[in-house]
Amino acid sequence: MNVAIIPAAGSGLRFGGEVPKQFLMIAGEPILLHTMRRFDRCPAIGGIVVALSEEAIESFGRVIDGAGLRLPVRLVIGGRERSDSIRHGLEAARAWAPEVVAVHDAVRPFVTVEQIAAVIERAREVGGAILALPATDTIKEVDSGMIVRTIDRRRIWRAQTPQAFRYDLLWRANEEARAAGLSSALTTDDALLVERLGAPVAIVEGSVHNLKITTPEDLLLAERLFERERG
Ligand code: C5P
Repeated sequence: MNVAIIPAAGSGLRFGGEVPKQFLMIAGEPILLHTMRRFDRCPAIGGIVVALSEEAIESFGRVIDGAGLRLPVRLVIGGRERSDSIRHGLEAARAWAPEVVAVHDAVRPFVTVEQIAAVIERAREVGGAILALPATDTIKEVDSGMIVRTIDRRRIWRAQTPQAFRYDLLWRANEEARAAGLSSALTTDDALLVERLGAPVAIVEGSVHNLKITTPEDLLLAERLFERERG
């Protein structure tokens, strides 16, 4: 089977509020639960692992108990860095002997069942696959406020999640990044760790609707999108 891993153990306080953004409520539920429901509805997924902070694990466990999800859920305590939380997630998933794991941002609740299934299918074929969007703006490399060069936009894609990999491949990539002491500032996504091994990672075209809720403006937009969905 295939397993979703959702790292949600960060403090995520860039909003400046008291509550990490993955626990903010939209349409009556925490953003993280909305995100989990997308995976719960995807027939390609057989289980969900969520990495949480020690403070959050008990209260969010109660939320999950009452959520009526179809899939088995394992909650694990996250690590110091995002990549440590992924490793804890991979360890917890091992009991399910997953073929492919799909790592997904806790704050991207608009991913579709079809997108999840497409990324997993591609990862089964290739080893790794991520959802990404072609760049629409022209991209400049800049140093000290001055343009150094213009990058060929046709080759530029913006990485989103899910990012899916054969289990063993992501495990090895995560281990090797750890052994190399790769800085957390550089390891912002999991594809990067797999790319470092020289393993191929395919692109599946995503959508602008797969919004990452990062700013207060995103939160307002997300509320509107949920209202529209519920029509
Ligand atoms: O802080 P940043 O945006 O890089 O975090 C990305 C994701 O990784 C968030 O969902 C956050 O909760 C999660 N994370 C984690 N464990 C950490 C740090 C971040 O699960 N130690």
